[in-house]
Order: sequence, then C-alpha cells, then structure tokens
Amino acid sequence: MTAEILQSFPEGGVAIVLGASGGIGAAVLAAVKASDRFAAVLGYHRRSVPALELTDEASIVAIADQVKAFGQPLRLVFDATGVLQGEGAAPEKSWRQLDAAQLARAFAVNAIGPALLMKHFLPLLDRDGKAVFATLSAKVGSIGDNHLGGWYGYRASKAALNQFVRTAAVELARQRPKAICVALHPGTVDTGLSAPHAKTGLDVRTPEAAAASLVAVLDRLSAAENGGFLDYRGAPLPW
Ligand SMILES: NC(=O)c1ccc[n+]([C@@H]2O[C@H](COP(=O)([O-])OP(=O)(O)OC[C@H]3O[C@@H](n4cnc5c(N)ncnc54)[C@H](OP(=O)(O)O)[C@@H]3O)[C@@H](O)[C@H]2O)c1
Repeated sequence: MTAEILQSFPEGGVAIVLGASGGIGAAVLAAVKASDRFAAVLGYHRRSVPALELTDEASIVAIADQVKAFGQPLRLVFDATGVLQGEGAAPEKSWRQLDAAQLARAFAVNAIGPALLMKHFLPLLDRDGKAVFATLSAKVGSIGDNHLGGWYGYRASKAALNQFVRTAAVELARQRPKAICVALHPGTVDTGLSAPHAKTGLDVRTPEAAAASLVAVLDRLSAAENGGFLDYRGAPLPW
C-alpha cells in the first residue's frame, strides 16, 4: 500500500537511507518505501551489499557508484548513522573520563563520516527540483542549549557535524540552489542507542512515530531552510 507522503519531491528518482539497520534508520526506510514518490528506495548499513562503514571512505564511494549506476536523479539522502559511545564506554559525566581514543571514535563516526557522505552525495543531488540531504544530529549537540554539561564526546562530535552541515550548505546553495542540506534532531527515540540512558519523565517515542514526523519535516522543507538545524517538528534549534 502506498502513502500520500513526500509529495513535495518531483516524481521518480532515487532515495537512499544510510544506517538503515538502526532503530530510526529502519523506520525511516520503511516510511520512505511506503511513499509512491521515488522510483527506487535503497537502504545501506554495515551489513548491506555494498556495505557502509563510515570509517572507510571506499565503502562510501562504492555506494555512490551504485546510486550513480541507477541513472536516475538522486532526490533524497537520509543519514541515520551515529554512536553515543564506543564499545564498552559510557558517555562522559566529567572531564576526568575524557579518553582520546573514545573521542576520536565519536568524531570519526558522528562528524567525519557524515562529512564524507556530504563529499560523495551532495554532488549527486539533482539540480532540477527539490533534493534533500538530511543527517541526524542531536539537540545535545547545540552549544547554545548546553546547560547540563556531560556527554562531552557526543555533544562535541554532533556540534562538529552541525558545522559540517552549515558549511556544506553554503557551497551547495551556490551549485544547486534548489537542494537542501539539513541537520535534524529526532527527539528521544526508543532505540539501542538511547536504551541504556532512558529516563522516566522524558518524552520517549517509538522509531515509527519519530520516522513519521521526520518524513513530514522532509516534505515541508524548502530551499530557505538549507543549512538549518531543525527538530522533528521542523522548528529551528539554537546552534
Ligand atoms: N535515539 C535517540 O533518542 C536519538 C536522539 C537524538 C539523536 N539521535 C541520533 O539519531 C541517529 C540514529 O540513532 P538511533 O537511535 O537510530 O541509533 P541506532 O539504533 O544505534 O542506529 C545507529 C546506526 O548507525 C550505524 N553505525 C554506527 N557506527 C557506524 C559506522 N562506523 N559505520 C556505518 N554505520 C554505523 C549503526 O549500524 P549498525 O547497525 O551496524 O551498528 C546503525 O545503523 C544517531 O545519529 C543518533 O545520534 C538519536
């Protein structure tokens, strides 16, 4: 059954979801597939063929090559990858817990990996009509909104991601004025990433509910929002 969503995108073309094995990524892939808008909807993750490993640029190139081979305009790239903490490590509560290897891991996956996705996918976005690159950031990556502290590596790597989005959006506007590059905050969502830190009292939503609201934001996006940092309702967040 097809759903009347994503109708603001021109009909046809390719949509891809990166990190499609994750809680939010799998739900967004299902939501985009439920739309009749795109000729092909593809999901990639660390066990797909080709596989996506953010710390291996060649894996990103292989996916970009597969997308190009479709010979159809690239309309939507949704990046749902990310890590809160490395293997066996908890997010830092104090500067005493800062660890160079863990920080490097957070930056590699949360900031540098998505920057390389921008390098290889922004040039493939169609020049005619709406095309979107959206990456999942997090409200805790906001510097202006940081009143609680803690989670140093996650916060800092998401702030770096936001700066990559903003910088790439400026270049994108020059080359593809109708295309849009944004960072999105999905809200608190019940996934493997958030589960160890779920606190009662927080508004925790299902991946399906989060995906429905994120897809609605994608549908409402216009070129005026290129370079934005928006929450799952489409409201701008402070940098
Ligand atoms: N859940 C929340 O409450 C929440 C709140 C704010 C922001 N976010 C953001 O939303 C995004 C998705 O989070 P989620 O909750 O859906 O988490 P998740 O279920 O843990 O999914 C994370 C995804 O990232 C992939 N990934 C991790 N390291 C990777 C690497 N080196 N190369 C390629 N892919 C890699 C995972 O692949 P594997 O399956 O192979 O591990 C998985 O597909 C993240 O950026 C997160 O920071 C989530």
